[in-house]
Amino acid sequence: MRVSAQAQPNIALVKYWGKRDGGGNLPATGSLSVTLESLWTRMILQSSKHRKDSLTVNGVSAPEMLPRVSRCLDSVLGSNRERIHVVSDSNFPIEAGLASSASAFSALVIAANRLTGKNLSFSALSRFAGEASGSAARSMCGGFVELVADSDNVHIQQIADAEEWPLEVIVAITAEGKKPVGSGEAMIRSAKTSPFYSSWLNRQDHDLKLARTSILTRDFEALAFVSERNCLKMHSVMWSSRPPIVYWNSGTLDCLQTVRSLQAKGHGVFFTIDAGPQVKAICLPESRQAVHDALVATNGVIKAIRSKIGPPARLIL
Ligand code: PMV
Repeated sequence: MRVSAQAQPNIALVKYWGKRDGGGNLPATGSLSVTLESLWTRMILQSSKHRKDSLTVNGVSAPEMLPRVSRCLDSVLGSNRERIHVVSDSNFPIEAGLASSASAFSALVIAANRLTGKNLSFSALSRFAGEASGSAARSMCGGFVELVADSDNVHIQQIADAEEWPLEVIVAITAEGKKPVGSGEAMIRSAKTSPFYSSWLNRQDHDLKLARTSILTRDFEALAFVSERNCLKMHSVMWSSRPPIVYWNSGTLDCLQTVRSLQAKGHGVFFTIDAGPQVKAICLPESRQAVHDALVATNGVIKAIRSKIGPPARLIL
């Protein structure tokens, strides 16, 4: 038996940066993202006769990533399950701040659910994806997606789909290597050492409300304002951690200057940056070409990927 699923990474506009006390991988606050169309991870799951699971990532055996994948399979299928061979392929750099774990784990839970005919609910699958990688739950939906943090759990809701507000995203890649510190470990460091951590958490509901309202009213200026500010606040928490967590490189800063000069020329564009040096520029469709060309011409940019807003995680043939 062989099953394939595909999911897209998502880019957070109101970020998840901090885990809830009490174990598990529950986020301390809600978050809000857009799912991308052009980037994808495809997962093929095949029943195996071996005594252990196995994993191939982009054509190479990846035993170091296997424990996290096996744990996620256990949560969907139960620990008393058959062993599985997992093949994962992505069309973009992984572990580089482009949310490859979001696309990987959302595709994994969709495929695992089908492989054994479990038929689990969307909310159960989202929870399992989110336990594996906090941002993965958001890739279960397409379009603009909110992760709502309830007092004892989290759930996912779509705020608008891609057709309702067809914004565009240009992803400027400024380094393709693996990030220096994983986001899980970095979040724990921030919680323990950043003097700004508690005020960061306390303002999240405020930012979520602004972002949600700006999406529902298609207010680009308001979404730009709250998204850039939320991004810079998260990076201030990272930078003020001890030791500091700095994911940016000089290309990242040059891209921010490029976005500022595009804004000064009247283009509808804003930036966001996750746990890596890549800059994501979200823009109105009419500014797409200008934003792409300006980022490609920016010092330190290796390449720029254009994307529309994308679909949910799903089974494929
Ligand atoms: O889901 P994780 O553990 O890879 O953490 C994601 C962290 C950020 O990308 C920086 C923010 C977010 O909300 O996606």
